[in-house]
Amino acid sequence: MDASLLAESKRTAGYRAAEMVEDGTVIGLGTGSTVFFAMERLGERIGDGLSIAGVPTSYQAAQRAREYGIPLTTLDEHPEIALAIDGADQVDPGLCLIKGRGAAHLREKCVADAADAVIIVIDAAKMTGRLDAVVPVEVLPFACGLVSRRLKDLGGLPALREGVKKDGPIITDNGNFVIDSDFGEIPDPVSLERQIAGIPGVLGSGLFTTFSGKIRVVVGEGREFRIV
Ligand code: 5RP
Repeated sequence: MDASLLAESKRTAGYRAAEMVEDGTVIGLGTGSTVFFAMERLGERIGDGLSIAGVPTSYQAAQRAREYGIPLTTLDEHPEIALAIDGADQVDPGLCLIKGRGAAHLREKCVADAADAVIIVIDAAKMTGRLDAVVPVEVLPFACGLVSRRLKDLGGLPALREGVKKDGPIITDNGNFVIDSDFGEIPDPVSLERQIAGIPGVLGSGLFTTFSGKIRVVVGEGREFRIV
């Protein structure tokens, strides 16, 4: 997709999600370029009198929220929240997701669990018939080798995620590493999420298969959008 059309699609989805936020609510703030558009619009709405507080899912999300004037709170203070807005890397027809290109999926999963409803904002290219993107897995650094072996046993091709300079593993906001594991097409994402979660040393994977019942997906297509 052409870069400007992609940015426009992301903005359309993000802005639309921001319109769905009700006054007086606490919302989860996911991480990623599409959610940041939602935050931009929320900032404008706050300027017009909207009163909300956001639970950020990463250092980066907190920074953006501050830039846009969104008051912040914590999951400890609000273990139940009305709505979370988040992005995704792939979405299948049953609303199972792969997330985590921004390495924030562990906190994002906690926030999705705490939320009554989750709005996923994506561009149309991320809708897929079957999930086949690499699955990010946040791991305890101590158990990195063990987790890689177990991911191979599950049919994955694991690779430790490195920074752009390739000078070492990226460190998540939680002090852990990320292993990206390629499983090719994933016929049973529910089972794979469970199996990965069962490996000692795994903190959480980017497979989100348990939230389908409360997810709405806002798909941006240029200036148009559709809700799935
Ligand atoms: C971060 C995520 C992001 O939401 C996901 O990678 C999508 O990002 P973007 O909106 O920039 O394409 O899961 O952990």
